[in-house]
Amino acid sequence: MKRFPAVALLAVSVALSCAKTEPVPFSVIPQPNQVTLGEGVFKVPGAAFGTDEAIPQDAAAMIDEFRVRIGTVTGKESPAVAGTAEKGFSFILNKDLGAEEYALKVTPEGVKVEAADYNGFLYAVQTLMQMLPSAVYGDKKASGPWVLQCAEILDKPRFGYRGILLDCCRHFWTVEETKRVIDIMSINKLNRLHWHLTEDQGWRIESKKYPKLNEIGSWREATQVGYDHNAFDGVRYGGYYTQDQLREVVAYAAKKGITVIPEVDLPGHMVAAVSSYPELGCTGGPYEVRKSWGISKDILCAGKESTFKFLEDIMDELLDIFPSEYINIGGDEAPKDRWKECPLCQKKIRQLGLKDRDGHTKEQFLQNYVTKRMQDYLASKGRKIIGWDEILEGELAPGATVMSWRGTKGGITAAGKGFDVIMSPNIYLYLDYYNSKEFDREPLGIGRRALPIEDVYAYEPMDGMPEGSDAHLIGVQANLWTEFISTPEHLEYNLLPRMSAASEIQWCNAGNKDFDRFRASMEHMRRIYDQLGLTYCKYMWGTVGLPGHEQPARPKEALDTINLRTIEKATYE
Ligand code: ACM
Ligand code: ZN
Repeated sequence: MKRFPAVALLAVSVALSCAKTEPVPFSVIPQPNQVTLGEGVFKVPGAAFGTDEAIPQDAAAMIDEFRVRIGTVTGKESPAVAGTAEKGFSFILNKDLGAEEYALKVTPEGVKVEAADYNGFLYAVQTLMQMLPSAVYGDKKASGPWVLQCAEILDKPRFGYRGILLDCCRHFWTVEETKRVIDIMSINKLNRLHWHLTEDQGWRIESKKYPKLNEIGSWREATQVGYDHNAFDGVRYGGYYTQDQLREVVAYAAKKGITVIPEVDLPGHMVAAVSSYPELGCTGGPYEVRKSWGISKDILCAGKESTFKFLEDIMDELLDIFPSEYINIGGDEAPKDRWKECPLCQKKIRQLGLKDRDGHTKEQFLQNYVTKRMQDYLASKGRKIIGWDEILEGELAPGATVMSWRGTKGGITAAGKGFDVIMSPNIYLYLDYYNSKEFDREPLGIGRRALPIEDVYAYEPMDGMPEGSDAHLIGVQANLWTEFISTPEHLEYNLLPRMSAASEIQWCNAGNKDFDRFRASMEHMRRIYDQLGLTYCKYMWGTVGLPGHEQPARPKEALDTINLRTIEKATYE
């Protein structure tokens, strides 16, 4: 198959735009890895849909939803036929293709789609949807033009793990709001939702075994206002998902090709838990669900067996809801102040024979012990752990996966030691940073730090990785922490369009990224955002600010000349 460079793709698109029935200029995000555009178009209205009987039921149902949608938006029903459709869409199971891979051939006579699994078919459908006018994402008849540009595509992702972290603890997102995030993830072919469900500021999982986690731990008495750690709004805030709601999100995400990976952050970030059950802490409290952001010294006591019993019980409840291969156990930002003072933690350290060594304290090795116990427990239930890069400090048992967030260093070190790695470096992929340096025109971001879309896009995950570590780099994730984000509009504004940029890091082979081509393709993607009623940052289009507060973006030179990204780099790399 011929591969056209991006510039050629655009040239062909422009040439075709002169044709009588104009297709949407080819602008699929993430850019498929092999595309050859051809002459002519396939006319969609009324085209039959043939589905190979060998295609699994769930994929066949998803394809049928696409058929119905095409009928709705074109105003002409597409009949379903058995087997291959003549002059129509044909979906065929091809076991020679790999996981999530699809092959697509559009000719004036028909559209042939081949894949080996659910996500392969789903992504072929997502690509076809993006090749059509954005009204295809709507729910009523629209004018089109309902034609697909002739093309041959063979596409599969660069990374198997393509994630977004959603923090529902600092601020709580309803099931419907969470589903909107899942929808746009799926359109951009992301496949993992890392759901950050427990925190100092709120516990968001219904627990039937530990009801005080919800009666007490899911609520805080007030919330910090802006950047001032001592200013509070006085409004009780919180909530949690019932187990049924958690299951509903898992099932919804699965239909969108997304596995939900829950995070129970331990042993730090546990103030909501110790506030509910003070005996889980070293001092016994009293504790209060945190109203301000930051890091708490109060963490779980590692010297009590009851702590491990609690964690195992919580995991049991979770495993029943989340079928994911991985469970995220956090492990970040766990100060050891309390453990140093706690007689029970110190007794445990003596029993285990832990000593300060190799530049690590015995308390750090106690955290390694906690990690290993959870790893072993989850392994006994057939699951694997992911943890933040702090789990690498001291000793980490084989089989753990490291999520690199403090820059890229943790991931590089972990890969060098033979651990699987997911790269999620704050300097490129923390979407809670401002979209631009227009600090006075943007909604609040975390700190005075800007992460414009071109900086996200520029990230190459193999940079700095040791020779031969490719197989250990299993994925890339962008993180949406929500300390300073309290409305769905602001959530979407910080997510989009940077998530679409991240999707090209996650999907496109090295060498297939091109910011100019991506920028041109964003013209169509923003129409999709508009069609779905999503809020997004329009910095690429010359304005900043939430709806109702939009202002022109100023030239870069008019802004602070400090390169904040360089400062971050110096801190973490
Ligand atoms: C983190 O951002 N504390 C993982
Ligand atoms: Zn203790």
